[in-house]
Amino acid sequence: MSSINRRAQQRNLEIISNKKVGAYHHMVLAAGDMAQHCSAGNFVAVSVGGTGSSMILRRAFAIYRASDRGQYGGTIELVIAPQGQGSRWLTSLDIHDVVDIVGPLGTSFGIPTEPASALLVGGGYGSAPLFGLAEVLKERGCRVDMVLGASSAGKIYAPLEGKRSVNSLTITTEDGGAGIKGRVTQVLPDLIEKHGIEIIYSCGPMPMIAAIEEISFKAGLVHQCAVEEAMACGIGICMTCVLPVRDPDGVIKMTRSCIDGPVMDGSRVIWDSLRKVPLGTWGFDG
Ligand SMILES: Cc1cc2nc3c(=O)[nH]c(=O)nc-3n(C[C@H](O)[C@H](O)[C@H](O)COP(=O)(O)OP(=O)(O)OC[C@H]3O[C@@H](n4cnc5c(N)ncnc54)[C@H](O)[C@@H]3O)c2cc1C
Ligand code: FES
Repeated sequence: MSSINRRAQQRNLEIISNKKVGAYHHMVLAAGDMAQHCSAGNFVAVSVGGTGSSMILRRAFAIYRASDRGQYGGTIELVIAPQGQGSRWLTSLDIHDVVDIVGPLGTSFGIPTEPASALLVGGGYGSAPLFGLAEVLKERGCRVDMVLGASSAGKIYAPLEGKRSVNSLTITTEDGGAGIKGRVTQVLPDLIEKHGIEIIYSCGPMPMIAAIEEISFKAGLVHQCAVEEAMACGIGICMTCVLPVRDPDGVIKMTRSCIDGPVMDGSRVIWDSLRKVPLGTWGFDG
């Protein structure tokens, strides 16, 4: 049976930097030894609104980068889009403010044992966990190509230091404000062929991941995706985050993306039945 990431801890972490970068905030937290246990793909659940707030549900944020070095004994970095009440509260905090965080949570990206040619695809803030992943893949001798897409240029998160950890970076925007006009999926078939891609890693909105899985399936590739199903508890209790997944025996099970994900095998998710319980699902009498 699945269980919460056994390295997860609840801690009050001090903010040591909070900078606006385009449409996002890049936040650095003094994390001490919590940083040692973070892997690319893991996320943290952040309490928002402060003491006495009516926002009782924690918000999930992918770990952009974790470092176990430096004067704080370790840092965790997040990329936050101020969208609703919780994320706006978080991005409004100052340096030295303290945030209540549970992490690291969830599964992480699998790394090939032999050097492989990998394509990393991110949508919007979905690029956040991919830069840390790119560094790990490069250390393993992999070729790493990256595609980042968003509706407009300001919503692309591609910091300079991140660009150095990839062999090529392709940008797509729906309004044509930066890079190629269109969606990430338009450029994938050519890049797969040109770079002899063997594995795709993706993170971003669910319709984007579903479209990537279609391309990956046709090309016969492995596709690991970090899903972004809405989460309420983040630790396997509430069942808010379930999605239908076919297990290795072919049985469809409603699977919790906070503990069996967010990183999943894209070929196992039943993409056309998200937010539904497909007929034949284990435990469902129809
Ligand atoms: C795995 C994962 C990784 C993510 N990573 C990032 C990231 O790196 N950067 C980023 O900016 N955002 C990320 N998000 C999105 C983030 O968790 C928030 O959803 C987003 O910031 C909006 O939250 P808000 O408080 O601003 O908006 P609000 O609209 O105030 O709240 C939305 C959140 O409230 C909760 N909620 C509200 N109503 C319900 C309900 N009826 N049932 C259950 N839950 C409810 C959910 O947790 C939901 O996410 C991620 C989400 C997931 C699941
Ligand atoms: S978010 Fe509560 S079970 Fe996954």
